[in-house]
This record gives sequence, C-alpha cells and structure tokens, in this order.
Amino acid sequence: MFDFKPQADADKATVWADLIGAADGVTAGERDAIANMANVAALVWELVPGLNWAGFYRMVDGELVLGPFQGRAACIRIPLGKGVCGAAAATATTQLVEDVHAFPGHIACDAASASELVVPIVVNGTVIGVLDLDSPTPARFDAEDAAGAEQLCALLAERLAD
Ligand code: SME
Repeated sequence: MFDFKPQADADKATVWADLIGAADGVTAGERDAIANMANVAALVWELVPGLNWAGFYRMVDGELVLGPFQGRAACIRIPLGKGVCGAAAATATTQLVEDVHAFPGHIACDAASASELVVPIVVNGTVIGVLDLDSPTPARFDAEDAAGAEQLCALLAERLAD
C-alpha cells in the first residue's frame, strides 16, 4: 500500500522532505495517535540513516510512557524533567544533544546511543508526547535534522488537533 524507498546518497534536505511527504500521506484522514505514531516511527526508521532507535513517548497522567517505536526494547516510563525526553516534554523545546554522556540525567536505554534528538509534540498548546531519535554516531544530528523533525511533529500535531 505504502512504498517509500530511501534514495541512496540523498542529502538531508531531500531525506526530510521525502519523509514529511510520506508521513503526510500515511496519516492523512487518520486521527488515532497510536496508529499515526506507529506509521511515522516506521517511516523515520526506513528513511533516516544512522539511527539505532526511533519512536515516541506519550504523555500519560503526567509522565512519559513508551509509545510506538523501531529499534531495541526501551525504558517504559520517564518522569517529566528527567533525561533528554523528559527535558523536551517539560520545557516544550527541542533537545539536540551531540554527546548524550555529557547530558545531565541522560537515560541510557541502549549503551550504543551516542547522540540524540528529541522534539515535543504540542497539540492545542499541550505537550502530548515526544519524538525521540537516537544514533550510535556522536553529533549525528544538526539544526537541519531538528528543523525537519519539528516539521514532522507539527504535521502529527495537526492530525491530532481538534
Ligand atoms: N535517552 C532517552 C531515553 C529514551 S531512549 O533513548 C529510547 C532520555 O534520556 O530521555
């Protein structure tokens, strides 16, 4: 049904544009958060190179709870303000971490992770979850990745908004 193939040697701008276009297609007309997060996690995993984890944590009763993802099994609950995900959710701001070992309170779900990008998903003014990308490569993510991931989360938020 959906057949999006990563382009070999595509530059970052192309990767994010392709990903956002694909996410737009698979989430169109669907309001269910889990279904949309599951499909978007699969697309990120397939199209963004150099990741060892890609997925979502959802805000449930004031803490982050593991949502749809691709990669190794991960920590289930993250208190608000803890780790990179908790910081993104508590401050409603993107966290771009070049070296996770230097981030105070980083939660190591997988010892292989070296850098991380976490973007909050804000629906009707409330953080309803975060998108978390991990990489085994130090400083894997830059401002272009952050902007692309923010655009992706804005699209998801739009699907879930009233
Ligand atoms: N490293 C994250 C925890 C989630 S896992 O990476 C999947 C953090 O510090 O919030």
